[in-house]
Amino acid sequence: MSNNNTERVTGHQRIETSNLLMIVLVLLTVAVGGFVEIVPLFFQRSTTQPAPGLKPYTALQVAGRDIYVREGCYNCHSQMIRPLLAETLRYGEYSKAGEFVYDRPFQWGSKRTGPDLHRVGGKYSDDWHRIHLNNPRDLVPESNMPAYTWLVNEPVDAAGLPARLSALRTLGAPYSDAEVQGAAQAATGKTEMDAVIAYLQVLGTSGALAKAETATATAKEAPRGNQ
Ligand code: HEC
Repeated sequence: MSNNNTERVTGHQRIETSNLLMIVLVLLTVAVGGFVEIVPLFFQRSTTQPAPGLKPYTALQVAGRDIYVREGCYNCHSQMIRPLLAETLRYGEYSKAGEFVYDRPFQWGSKRTGPDLHRVGGKYSDDWHRIHLNNPRDLVPESNMPAYTWLVNEPVDAAGLPARLSALRTLGAPYSDAEVQGAAQAATGKTEMDAVIAYLQVLGTSGALAKAETATATAKEAPRGNQ
């Protein structure tokens, strides 16, 4: 048997036997790879421009969205339908980046104790949501979603809305001066329950895009389902 110990360590072997070199090169590879994959997304129109027909949230919907965040609904609900058949059959057309440009911060999430909510808008009546949020078990006996009984008694913080709309406008939501100034008025007399429902009912309904593409997707998927 020849004695390999005296051979010079070269090439890949050198990297594999040096912790420091390995760490530096791994970090470099990940950094370059990440840069190439992530940076272009900041400049692609499909990720930075609103989807056709997408509207910024109304004052009441903004209030509802803030309550959704406050109550931690995102801990159990994602808002991101992935482009997989099992998901599109259950939830509808998969989510597009352009549908979230006015979502700050976005509510994509990944934890699904409950169903995805991205296209829940229009799925149920306002009354369904009212009963469900007050006590989910009145409608879905096996539900483990908490009851949000207080929403119906709490008035919306209407006075704070103009400032919130104005902040969103700074970030790119195209609100007019009238919409910002009228924000408090638009939510006066509404309860937090009204606001959350207004928010839920608009989710995923933005523009013709969602509906048109769902129709094509279903048409394409039908023959596959019959096989
Ligand atoms: C502990 C986890 C949990 C939290 C927190 C939670 N939910 Fe749920 N949610 C569920 C589960 C489980 C279901 C499915 C059973 C049902 O319909 O009640 C559900 C169902 C729903 C549905 C019906 C979805 C559908 O397509 O049928 C809506 C709407 C909803 N939740 C809204 C909310 C909102 C708004 C909040 C915050 C105020 C919230 N949830 C907080 C677990 C949760």
